[in-house]
Amino acid sequence: MKLEKSRIKENTCIALDTFKMVLASTLGKEMEPGQFINIKVDGYTLRRPISISDIEEDTYTIIYKVVGEGTKVLASMQKDDEIDIIGPLGSGFPIHEEQDHILIVGGGVGVPPLYEVAKRYRALHKDVEVVLGFNDQESIFYENEFKALGCKVNIATMDGSYGTKGSVIDAIEAQAISNSFVYSCGPMPMLKALEAKYTMGYTSFEARMACGIGACMGCVCKDKEDGDLYYRICKEGPVFPIGKVGL
Ligand code: FES
Repeated sequence: MKLEKSRIKENTCIALDTFKMVLASTLGKEMEPGQFINIKVDGYTLRRPISISDIEEDTYTIIYKVVGEGTKVLASMQKDDEIDIIGPLGSGFPIHEEQDHILIVGGGVGVPPLYEVAKRYRALHKDVEVVLGFNDQESIFYENEFKALGCKVNIATMDGSYGTKGSVIDAIEAQAISNSFVYSCGPMPMLKALEAKYTMGYTSFEARMACGIGACMGCVCKDKEDGDLYYRICKEGPVFPIGKVGL
């Protein structure tokens, strides 16, 4: 974990209220898929946790949604501006080289951390089936990027404006997808539905965070079996084996 100023190489709108920011940094060497950075936005005290979507040797990429004044400031930043970050933080998605068929399921802004997972499995020539869920066609991003990796990509939209109408579960059933080692990130109802269907793989959780480094206990969740056992989503998570954490 380091505190650094990363230089913005690109900050572009890629879907409805959704921005992709590429940052020049050598921190990529220390990053694992599923980890996140904590960004300081000028004028705001609390840092914002944002997951890392793509890792290269001299750059890394984050994708974020503009949901309030802080992220609006982030969206207004220009090439060559610097942002103050702490990272990489949290646990990453373990890669299982023995698994040949992987299922990746992402919902909305839960999609980004799964891109690097897909990249790592495709580098191992594994079969990667991807299911991405969005509210509507305007909100879709990274369909082509996953396809470019050689993944089979299925899209679900809640309003039916693109792909399967309904949830990611509807798309999995409509396409009769049989891969069952799952990596997922997205809204809680989606994660609950996946947990009811799958027993192998990993889930990344989103949480409101204050410190982001394990110090404040503001992001705890309970172990599913042992109610006295707690995990900090920012420290022991955000990635947990599927079914480990009480939803
Ligand atoms: Fe402070 Fe997780 S946000 S412990």
